[in-house]
Amino acid sequence: MGIEEGVPLRYRRPVKNYFIVALLFVALSACVAPRKVVPVPTAAMAEKSGQDLAILQKGYGVYMAQCSRCHEPLMPSDISTADWHIVTPGMAWNAGISEAEEAAVLKYILAAK
Ligand code: HEC
Repeated sequence: MGIEEGVPLRYRRPVKNYFIVALLFVALSACVAPRKVVPVPTAAMAEKSGQDLAILQKGYGVYMAQCSRCHEPLMPSDISTADWHIVTPGMAWNAGISEAEEAAVLKYILAAK
């Protein structure tokens, strides 16, 4: 009886410790891993792209609010300028946004690329 109880205990403890170490590892790597963040419009971005900062901010707002409803927002740099021109009208229709909002989203994306 005493021996039977002792055996599982000896093996259970290390397993539990490995589990905690694994959990810590997962938690740590989730914090340390670089996460891509959709760039926030800046004055420098506006100047470089020749766009109004207010338009870029509007586009960014619509992009984060409307274009991330069905999927994670892509990084502006993830696809080509030509592809953004092709994809955005269809996605604007998906999102049910106005033409002005669509134009602002596209300006923001191209400025942020
Ligand atoms: C109603 C849901 C919905 C909304 C809102 C939406 N999308 Fe999409 N989007 C999809 C689906 C579904 C796909 C994948 C199928 C496809 O490519 O048509 C997709 C695919 C994409 C892709 C293609 C990714 C690739 O690698 O080819 C891009 C880019 C994109 N969306 C951008 C946007 C933008 C920008 C907006 C906001 C104007 C937006 N989406 C809003 C549903 C949506």
